[in-house]
Amino acid sequence: MASTRTQIGIVGAGPAGLLLSHLLAREGIESILVEDRSRTYVEERIRAGVLEQGTVDILNQTGLGERMNRESLIHDGIEIRFNGTGHRIDFPSLTGGKRIAVYGQHEVVKDLIAARLADGGVIHFEVSDVSVNDFTDTAPKIRYRKAGEGNEIACDFIAGCDGFHGICRPSIPEGILTAYDREYPFAWLGILAESTPAAEELIYTHTDRGFALLSMRSPTLSRLYLQCNPEDDIARWPDDRIWEELQRRTATADGAFRVPEGPILQKGITPMRSFVVEPMQHGRLYLAGDAAHIVPPTGAKGMNLAVADVRTLTTALVAFYKNGDVTRLGEYSARCLRRVWKAQRFSWWMTTMLHLNRADSPFDRRRQIAELDYVTSSETAMRSLAENYVGLPFDDPVAVN
Ligand code: FAD
Ligand code: PHB
Repeated sequence: MASTRTQIGIVGAGPAGLLLSHLLAREGIESILVEDRSRTYVEERIRAGVLEQGTVDILNQTGLGERMNRESLIHDGIEIRFNGTGHRIDFPSLTGGKRIAVYGQHEVVKDLIAARLADGGVIHFEVSDVSVNDFTDTAPKIRYRKAGEGNEIACDFIAGCDGFHGICRPSIPEGILTAYDREYPFAWLGILAESTPAAEELIYTHTDRGFALLSMRSPTLSRLYLQCNPEDDIARWPDDRIWEELQRRTATADGAFRVPEGPILQKGITPMRSFVVEPMQHGRLYLAGDAAHIVPPTGAKGMNLAVADVRTLTTALVAFYKNGDVTRLGEYSARCLRRVWKAQRFSWWMTTMLHLNRADSPFDRRRQIAELDYVTSSETAMRSLAENYVGLPFDDPVAVN
């Protein structure tokens, strides 16, 4: 078995693993990444689209802003539409000037991979049989196969950045982690369409046919979502049905609004779930991003949380390598979880406020409309939504140079 050594062994080349490797390299800390998919696959996987102000800031501060600043769409607000009427939530005026950026997760991933490779970073794509070993003593190892050959990476710490379905979390012995889980009786049918975005900003709509979200990736690419059943089969959603349902769920009372249609390039159904494990660490294995927690996408928090985790992990690893200080490593889980639970709360709240739950009683339906009415008419309520949507402030300085 071929063996190499590094300081941090990272499993997963999604936003969490790649950004961690990038931030560590800037601090002079070495890492090696292993990823079971191909480079093309991870660079083309369409997922998140909204970057919080703090995510934009960290990408800018660490030399990753060049293409993002040119190609991202900066949004000053969102629209919430119900009863056929739209209501705008203006972020800068409610949050002291904060905004969000619409820039696809796969674009962030492309920028990160390019930066790592340009800096001499090591990413092993298309590996198999990945395992994490000996992380409860001081010499953890990642083992994997590449082109049939067995390999081992000896390291000081392992970062489990392998997403919700990865192997790191399940490698932690039973009885250590507590999982907090909630499933929702709905899923999202998402499409990527070659069509002009319906509006300059995102539109979240609630109707008695269900929820819809009109988002985008560029001035010519729309990203559109419909609430559907988790058991729904994509084969039952031909393109015509998708467009008709989008038109119905986004119609305004005056009948003037139309979603511009175009060829559908991709479609898929994603179930919705809230999930957290505590703690986010065992021995020398640290979980970050979706490996430790997932949120329903309504609050646009998943990728931003992954970024926040690796920011916290970087600070802790820098304190360890520069000063031999293990305090921050010991606090890693608790520091991350404070933010994670607030993002869980916000994502759950946005989800339950905006989706149609067919099991709701007539009382709950009226309460839901009252909530939408309140959140779009009270400045106090709008400020709370805006503060969470643009991203809560960090309580510690960023470890960047
Ligand atoms: P991932 O991106 O899942 O990366 C994990 C990586 O590990 C993958 O590359 C995977 O291939 C690899 N891997 C898995 N198993 C192994 C293994 N055994 N060995 C090696 N490698 C492995 N978030 C937002 O912030 N804003 C949004 O607007 C938003 N919208 C979303 C819309 C949809 C439809 C979906 C599905 C998600 C959305 N999210 C959003 C969530 C966001 O995409 C995730 O939270 C984000 O991808 C988490 O990043 P990660 O690096 O932790 O995990
Ligand atoms: C997206 O553009 O993919 C997107 C935007 C906002 C969300 C979720 C997804 O809340």
